[in-house]
Amino acid sequence: MACFTVALMMIGVIISPCVYGKEFSDHKEIEVERLLKRLNKHALLSIKSDDGDIIDCVPVQSQLAFDHPLLKNHTIQMRPSFIPESTSIYTKSYTQAWNKNGRCPQNTVSVRRIKREDILRSNSIEDFGKKMTPGILLYGSKSVHEYAYMSSKEGKYFGTEFVVNIWKPKVQVRREFSLAQTWLVSGAGLSRNTIEAGFQVYPGIYGDNNLRLFVYWTADGYQQTGCYNTDCPGFVQKSKRIIVGGTFNTVSQYNGSQFAHRIVIWRAREDGKVWWLKVGDELVGYWPSSLFTTLGDGAMRVKWGGEIVNAKTGGIHTSTDMGSGHFAEEGNKKASYFRNLKLVSETNFLIEPKGVFPRATNANCYNIKVGPNGTAWGIYFYYGGPGLNTKCP
Ligand SMILES: *[C@@H]1O[C@H](CO)[C@@H](O)[C@H](O)[C@H]1NC(C)=O
Ligand SMILES: *[C@@H]1O[C@H](CO)[C@@H](O)[C@H](O)[C@H]1NC(C)=O
Ligand SMILES: *[C@@H]1O[C@H](CO)[C@@H](O)[C@H](O)[C@H]1NC(C)=O
Repeated sequence: MACFTVALMMIGVIISPCVYGKEFSDHKEIEVERLLKRLNKHALLSIKSDDGDIIDCVPVQSQLAFDHPLLKNHTIQMRPSFIPESTSIYTKSYTQAWNKNGRCPQNTVSVRRIKREDILRSNSIEDFGKKMTPGILLYGSKSVHEYAYMSSKEGKYFGTEFVVNIWKPKVQVRREFSLAQTWLVSGAGLSRNTIEAGFQVYPGIYGDNNLRLFVYWTADGYQQTGCYNTDCPGFVQKSKRIIVGGTFNTVSQYNGSQFAHRIVIWRAREDGKVWWLKVGDELVGYWPSSLFTTLGDGAMRVKWGGEIVNAKTGGIHTSTDMGSGHFAEEGNKKASYFRNLKLVSETNFLIEPKGVFPRATNANCYNIKVGPNGTAWGIYFYYGGPGLNTKCP
């Protein structure tokens, strides 16, 4: 309306920015539609979840992963020949929220549909699915990401097994997240490769405060390659039941019921073609080895722990929880834990990490405490915290 009036008065002068603005938004609209069409593959069945997600049942071979140029000749892996897991570690199997509303048919995999809003929430169409580059959140300070984690020594490893306590951390503002994950890291700078998996609350990308299983990968230090979940070609979903990006409703309560998932990530010695991901008793999917440049070649470090983003809203530290939102000293049923930490050796054996290297970027906000060894929990630690408090202003 305003444009129209102004344009009538000053034909040819003001008119062009108005038209330009409209063309620009039409153009963006077209780009978003095009991206959605590329990302969401034709589904044989779609299931509406109570959490607002739509789950598409897509034929295994037509999933987005195989649009990746490096996977043009990829042979879909059926089952791993070997799963390096400890038979002594028991965790229950869990269902995702959408499981009660339906099942995907044979020969399909379930995939969380990407919605228009998901793309519009990202900084730009190009950034969709990527970790928001620190620059966007930084405001000139490097302390936006805060961690409490344990690291292995560098070594020739081929994966990890661990049990992670499940909580639904409170996240203060949309662009912050709180997660519990493992990092498999090799290389440095632009040849940094990572495989990452865990649980996160991240309203900035999912549009809600649900706890979700997530995976991430990069083969170039978070530059052009990689993304969350199945937001870009790469990660191959195999399961019909547990999906990356899917929500879990079963979470631990402070001083109450506790829930934990076993996660195993490994590269099978026999073929070496892929890195498998198993969560609970479900083989979720895999990352093809051909996506990576340094991972699996030699030295790798494995980390386990929590990370949050502190947006310093109003100039004070965020009150976003890490883990349960309680410090490590509170211990069992109160602080969050990682336990039975194992590494996968070159010969596909599970070994305990030699030496433990805990680190908290600011222990007044979130901390970590390694437990004594020699218990049924093997190598373990408690971690977490409330963020904002008198010592963490
Ligand atoms: C796929 O196979 C063709 C024919 O063997 C080969 O030329 C091409 O380089 C392969 N592509 C990839 C990404 O491996
Ligand atoms: C934890 O639960 C126990 C048993 O129900 C109760 O006695 C205790 O007061 C609770 N502690 C806290 C800190 O809530
Ligand atoms: C287990 O505890 C013993 C005694 O404190 C210590 O020497 C050893 O390094 C510990 N092992 C690990 C893997 O931390």
